[in-house]
Amino acid sequence: MGKISSLLKLTPFIKKHKLVFIAGIIGMLLGSVIATPIPYIIGIIMDKVLIAKKGYNQLYYYIGIIAVFYVLRYFISIFSNYMFVKINNLVVNELRCTVMDKVMELPMSYLANTEKGYVQSRIAECSTVGSIFSPSYVGIVLSLTDAVLALVTMFAINYKLSIVILILTPLFFFSSKMSMGNFMKNTKEMLEYNATLNGECFEIINGIEDIKILNGKSNHLKKFNDKLSKLVKSSLKQSKSMIIFMGNITFINNFGSLLVLLIAGILILKGEFTVGLYTSFSLYITKVFSSIQGIGTMGTMIKPVCLSIERVYELLDMDDENSGKNQNLNEEIKSIKFENVAFKYKNNIKNVLNDINFEIIKGEKVLIKGENGSGKSTIIKLLLGLYNPVEGRILCNNIDMSTVNTKSLRERIGIVSQSIFLFKGTVLANILYGQTKKKLKDVEELIKKLGLQEYINRLPKGLDTEITQNNSGISGGQAQVIAFIRVILSNKDVIILDEPISNVDVETRDLILGILRDKDYEGTLIVVSHVIEGMDFLNRIIEI
Ligand SMILES: Nc1ncnc2c1ncn2[C@@H]1O[C@H](COP(=O)(O)OP(=O)(O)OP(=O)(O)O)[C@@H](O)[C@H]1O
Ligand SMILES: [Mg+2]
Repeated sequence: MGKISSLLKLTPFIKKHKLVFIAGIIGMLLGSVIATPIPYIIGIIMDKVLIAKKGYNQLYYYIGIIAVFYVLRYFISIFSNYMFVKINNLVVNELRCTVMDKVMELPMSYLANTEKGYVQSRIAECSTVGSIFSPSYVGIVLSLTDAVLALVTMFAINYKLSIVILILTPLFFFSSKMSMGNFMKNTKEMLEYNATLNGECFEIINGIEDIKILNGKSNHLKKFNDKLSKLVKSSLKQSKSMIIFMGNITFINNFGSLLVLLIAGILILKGEFTVGLYTSFSLYITKVFSSIQGIGTMGTMIKPVCLSIERVYELLDMDDENSGKNQNLNEEIKSIKFENVAFKYKNNIKNVLNDINFEIIKGEKVLIKGENGSGKSTIIKLLLGLYNPVEGRILCNNIDMSTVNTKSLRERIGIVSQSIFLFKGTVLANILYGQTKKKLKDVEELIKKLGLQEYINRLPKGLDTEITQNNSGISGGQAQVIAFIRVILSNKDVIILDEPISNVDVETRDLILGILRDKDYEGTLIVVSHVIEGMDFLNRIIEI
């Protein structure tokens, strides 16, 4: 897991923005090249101007050259950093969008069995993936150019001292790699404790009403405290490993510099080296050491990113619900046929449905009847292509639905499901959800035709009543009526009502049944219910 080769999966995203990416790289390389002569010029100032006591003009001249280099580097680094920030944002957002698109296309058999938090964290993980383009990561890779250029210059200045530096580099590399490894391990542990603490918070906030009613506060607070103390412990451990990591780096840096000073001192005393060259040398060493340390930590730092890429792609590489479904349902639905259909959900041991056979013809008004848990809603889910039968076939206009694109199917079937989910927004926006051609006027006309004006006017702001998350702001019965208006407005070939009168009061029930009894609707009507009273307008019963 966490293979570096996973980075290649990002190639299509980089290719799309290759100009920005290349501009960033060129900027960074140019910055390195410009910075390389600076330490050497500082050495010249020491030896040839200060120690040799040359005039002020010489000093101003060299300082001027360095200043020009610094100014150039300043602008170039701002430019290249901006390019990388830009590509980071572009890639993260495109990846997020791709993942979101994929999530909505995944089969229900996967989504219903996967924790919502897990899917959510996959989307959040895209930002970790993007961090690979952060200037600090790219900077580490490109600091190699800095280091190579510095080493070349160092060898040109004094090869003996350069060899000492070369011998020291593995020490820097491995010490950084090890310390970083430890730090990352502790960070991972801390993040896991943090995630479980977040899960606990999530449960408390979601279940707050029941916690209050059941006097569960102390129980939850204890669990929260336990998780919190684990987090505190692991966070201290993580901070400790960070302190040791920084300490190790400083310690090795100090001793490396001291060793160089010793050798350089001996060479200066022997007359083989100068103070100015030593100064240049020290500045180059800093570049080499920090680059080696950066490269040492790179692998460990990049692995979590690779892991995130792998996890995101695990999701992106999954088959979606329309894989292999290449046909479109282009014609009006004239018949629906279940042939020896059997089904079970992934986590079921036994089949929920066994040997289901029925046919519904265009214009029929059918009741699907059965006890609680007998599988009525499951039949509807199979019909909508949310799940596939484990045995048998479902045919629509004699076409096997396992070959039909679900989007084209759902364009022709409207449903008021048993568990209605209304979206955040106004009642009107919810009624118009999924409609492209209908407008406020159509909604008002339909409400009038159905005789539901009074019902809608009783809502706090009528059609403009705001529904917040989780259907709050609206009652269960009202939600059912809103979904009912939505489905009638959509004008589909088949309308399915799953328990349309289960949640509503007598008045609303009579209203809904009255509308259904109306002969105007010529399409197919499938009503799912475990009660039969008031359903006299239906002309056939399918018993499950
Ligand atoms: N997502 C799921 N995963 C696993 N089992 C499920 C799932 N949804 C439903 N079931 C099981 O399938 C069976 C049939 O459920 P279904 O919702 O189809 O029944 P129903 O006839 O509509 O019942 P009700 O009258 O209560 O609405 C039940 O035993 C239920 O526990
Ligand atoms: Mg049901």
